[in-house]
Amino acid sequence: MKNIESKLKESRSYKPNNTFVAQSNLTVNLLEQLHKSYKNDSDAFWGKLARQNIDWIKDFKTICSGEAPFYKWFEEGKLNVSENCLDRYINKNKLAIIHISEDDKKKSISYDDLYYLVNNFSYALKQQGLIKGDRVIIYMPTTPEAIIAMLSCARLGLIHSVVFAGFSSESLQNRINDCKAKIIITVDGFKRNGKIIKAKETVDQALSMGCPSIRNCIVFKNLKNKIEFNKNIDIYWDEILSSKQQIVKPEIMSSEDLLFILYTSGSTGKPKGIMHTTAGYLLNSIITNKWVFDLKENDIFWCTADIGWITGHSYVVYGPLATGSTILIYDGAPTYPDVDRFWDIIEKNKVTVFYTAPTAIRTLMKLGENLPDKYNLESLRLLGTVGEPINPKAWVWYHNKIGNSNCPIVDTWWQTETGANMIAPIPGVTKTVPGTCTHPLPGIDIGIISDDGREITKANQGGNLVIKKPWPSMLRGIWGDETRYQKTYWKKFKNKYYVTGDTARKDEDGNIWIMGRSDDVVNVSGHRLGTMEIESSIVSHEYVAEAAVVSYKHEVKGEAIHAFVTLKNNYIDYMTPEFAEDLRYWVKDKIGSIAKPERISFSNALPKTRSGKIMRRLLRNIARGENISGDTSTLENENILKQLQNIL
Ligand code: WTA
Repeated sequence: MKNIESKLKESRSYKPNNTFVAQSNLTVNLLEQLHKSYKNDSDAFWGKLARQNIDWIKDFKTICSGEAPFYKWFEEGKLNVSENCLDRYINKNKLAIIHISEDDKKKSISYDDLYYLVNNFSYALKQQGLIKGDRVIIYMPTTPEAIIAMLSCARLGLIHSVVFAGFSSESLQNRINDCKAKIIITVDGFKRNGKIIKAKETVDQALSMGCPSIRNCIVFKNLKNKIEFNKNIDIYWDEILSSKQQIVKPEIMSSEDLLFILYTSGSTGKPKGIMHTTAGYLLNSIITNKWVFDLKENDIFWCTADIGWITGHSYVVYGPLATGSTILIYDGAPTYPDVDRFWDIIEKNKVTVFYTAPTAIRTLMKLGENLPDKYNLESLRLLGTVGEPINPKAWVWYHNKIGNSNCPIVDTWWQTETGANMIAPIPGVTKTVPGTCTHPLPGIDIGIISDDGREITKANQGGNLVIKKPWPSMLRGIWGDETRYQKTYWKKFKNKYYVTGDTARKDEDGNIWIMGRSDDVVNVSGHRLGTMEIESSIVSHEYVAEAAVVSYKHEVKGEAIHAFVTLKNNYIDYMTPEFAEDLRYWVKDKIGSIAKPERISFSNALPKTRSGKIMRRLLRNIARGENISGDTSTLENENILKQLQNIL
């Protein structure tokens, strides 16, 4: 990583408009006070926020305790997350969820309704014999029932793990078995792009491959499409509900009890079960919803993320509901029935705060640059992005066309592991520049560190992005794999810093620019995928001998996947475009559509060093259309490079 110098220069900058500034939750002074108070006494800073923002059943005794990398927060405190999301907002005549389905059915659910729905479902789950600490898999699209399922788990102290409903049966099976879930909750089916996705069928396949821990599958009749009903395992959601309204007392949870596990890709083949706990996670979710999204009483907040990702956890479910906000959820494709669907939803529902991913912005810009002109988007007052760096062209389009040149844009940097936004503008204060997530939030101590552990102070010099001090919503580990937790996030700088895996630089004004990953993780359409995970799925094909996966820049997806593949000797006749297509679908079946390689190249061998290591650097050069750079003298077989350039 020596001397990564950035050549990128962006001179446009945007100040928040006066109307926004006048009403914003955080002002220049308040923000300064927060930074100061953190610097003076970090424990006092977090303790005060925790008492202000969370309803505690019992107050905590310590703030941050323990040692790297095993920190604990708010010990001896007792609370319940579902109580914080529901009980304190009932009897106020307040809307919690506006749900729009792909075929445009609208359903509004008040906090009172949601409270009763969650209590009823909690009662039903309890009747199934589930107890605190049991794991529950939720394999559902972003619907009110998925949120009810999550909150019911939280109410009972069950640890949920939401699996993105686009994942394949094999990915689902891996996750079920890794956390040894007792129950899976799913739907019969859901619609995407007008087509029925048979979620229950995928669950059946996963279970048939072997999931010994699963006792039952709870099926919500979402579309009422026909399903195979296995009497030994399956139960219908509506049939386990009690006929009269039940109220379930929230389980008294300790601050450090697990709230959920969420699987994310790492640089090895096996996804990591990131663990988040009750109090710390809740606190950062709440404060970032207030600080970064400036949420208020009258807002309608639409975060387009699926609940299968961390963004869906912190900015669709827990953060907004724990601040008593109204969320909009849309359970459909962004381009269905047409590419103006998002703008139509914003206009019809008077969305005020809109949070989406750069890949969605680029897609919608490409397919309908001027379509937003047809809509009245004046209800919007704040825009956000997450998942990958946003290119300035898309940023400016988002600002002009969607925000009517009037809305601040918060480019939020964070990770599944961090639980909530870490680096982001404060919309009423920060001068934004397209392409940077700007400055760390109060309480978040960010560093850019060279490989040999020195703090990089020179402007625009790249290095490892680290977090130097613990924060409440930090991951507590990887489910069942303490060694991997230590190795992945802490070993590089000997437990001194949390290592994000990203590289970044700071410009002359202190703005942080994310430059990319320092490990084998690629970011396709804002979703993290491990190259090893994709490689192992390709290699599991009978015809394949070896595979190496790298990424290259893609106009819409941000990064796309290029797989270099060699076939076993008796199958070399299959080096054809048809088989390349088969392999793409193979990966889709194994992992899910997001992992499908955009390009595949076959060759007789992969470039390797004499010691047998695949030279990914060369493959990256080829995939990115660059000249082969650096030393190739250790390469075993130079002729192979020519063959590799033949892309199918
Ligand atoms: C990338 C998503 C640039 C980064 C919340 C990070 C970003 C990974 C941004 C985490 C951003 C996320 N600018 N890059 N605003 N936000 N990333 O766990 O590489 O799905 O490490 O969490 O996405 O992805 P994850």
